[in-house]
Amino acid sequence: MIRICPSILNADRDNLPNEIARISGQSDLLHLDVMDNAFVPNFTFTFEQSEKIIKECPIPVDSHLMIADPDERAYLYAKAGSASVTFHYEASSNPLQTILRIREAGSRVGLALKPATQFHEIASMMEHLDMLLIMTVEPGFGGQSFMLDMMDKVKQARKDIDTRFFGKIWLQVDGGVSLETIAQAAESGADTFVAGSAVFKSDNPGSMVDALRALALKSSAR
Ligand code: DX5
Ligand code: ZN
Repeated sequence: MIRICPSILNADRDNLPNEIARISGQSDLLHLDVMDNAFVPNFTFTFEQSEKIIKECPIPVDSHLMIADPDERAYLYAKAGSASVTFHYEASSNPLQTILRIREAGSRVGLALKPATQFHEIASMMEHLDMLLIMTVEPGFGGQSFMLDMMDKVKQARKDIDTRFFGKIWLQVDGGVSLETIAQAAESGADTFVAGSAVFKSDNPGSMVDALRALALKSSAR
């Protein structure tokens, strides 16, 4: 199973419902990048703006919280109706409690790792997760280059997911995913792909989602 999640970070913000309509028929989830100008040097949406997007989006929303205080705030995005809420391990002082709070509020739970964070640091938490997000850029901005050197981490996570969890935990990559890079991510074991600029900077975002999915399917061992 392959999932494609377009990120609206670089979509036309003044025209979001139309932008979302261009990809909703082809996409599995909408990826919502929440940045607070503290955990990352960029700001995207207030909670109220995020809540509106989550409530009005015609497809399930995958909220990616790049915020400094996920332990206090992550569950709010679950309560708002996100299908999935992902927070950063590096920003949390009590990841297990935050995982439980998100799940209790009704969402799937994802844990995100910045490029410098190693898989072994979170391996003991895998049993509590629905998804692991391995960042393939430094979080904060769209349009950066895919970090090929993250593929070892993806392979390690895939091996663990298959051996200990029967393939059940989703493995997401985010950052620089495009027609040029998605095959390598899929070969390495990712099954859930975020793509921002590749989708919204193309002339036909819907067909770009289809093209990305076809490539991922072809290259995936899943
Ligand atoms: C980066 C964000 C990504 C970003 C992806 O901090 O988490 O979701 O929007 O954009 P592209 O695909 O352009 O790298
Ligand atoms: Zn993201």
